[in-house]
Amino acid sequence: MFADTLIEKLQKSQHLVILTGAGVSAESGIATFRDALTGLWKKYDAETLASEQGFRADPALVWGWYEWRRKQVLQAKPNPAHYAIAQLAEQLPKVTLMTQNVDDLHERAGSHNVLHLHGSLHQPRCLDCDQAYDLPKQADSKNTSNVESRIDPPHCYDCDGPIRPGVVWFGEQLPVNVWKLAQEACRECDLMLVIGTSGVVWPVADLPNFVNKDRGCVVQINPNITSLNGLASYNLSEKAGAILPKLYAAAFT
Ligand code: OAD
Repeated sequence: MFADTLIEKLQKSQHLVILTGAGVSAESGIATFRDALTGLWKKYDAETLASEQGFRADPALVWGWYEWRRKQVLQAKPNPAHYAIAQLAEQLPKVTLMTQNVDDLHERAGSHNVLHLHGSLHQPRCLDCDQAYDLPKQADSKNTSNVESRIDPPHCYDCDGPIRPGVVWFGEQLPVNVWKLAQEACRECDLMLVIGTSGVVWPVADLPNFVNKDRGCVVQINPNITSLNGLASYNLSEKAGAILPKLYAAAFT
């Protein structure tokens, strides 16, 4: 079912880059962004829920929404795609995993040193002084029963400023060091798997363009067509949780 050339490239890869998006967590029950657009994101514009301006205007709405999402993630489990990705790292000399997802399902499946390009739901910090803040392991179930549960954000131990979610909001830069490492890995790699991303959010959507055209090769895994179909040398049009374990088995068992 896979081209022999693809299996050979995977087996011989010296540096594999894996870029994941919301599609990888979809089979764990977490709505993708473009799906969510038909839900809450339709009612509130994205800037209301995912910008500093929106947070300052209504902290309880925004914090409550992110706590609801964190609760969803805490209840979710990694799926076969997350596990297959972690297994690939055990077979190859160098794998750099980078994700746009703000959940921790890659880590819970056994992946290490994940580059969180858009931050993490699990690493909030003070809006005023940037001090990290420890959240309880469980989201408050009384207050996160639905997407519009309003919850006042906690306050910083140091300066009493409001605690903000640790995700990248509209109008914000990606974490500088994470972005630098991601670019370097894409320039250096010989193979890049791009899995479950619509490729419409910049600058992450540009990363496959950094892969060296002579030395490297881009493979897309996505049941739907995206802007990456033209650039990718291989397009595997299936769900990540179904195809990644098969790809792993074809190359390494
Ligand atoms: P999107 O929701 O834009 O795209 C999800 C992609 O996953 C789509 O192309 C689907 O076809 C694909 N997909 C769905 N189910 C899949 C499955 N089972 N296996 C493989 N692919 C599947 O999500 P992202 O591209 O991750 O940014 O969104 C990028 C960014 O947009 C997010 O990180 C977020 C949002 O604005 C921030 O929050 C900063």
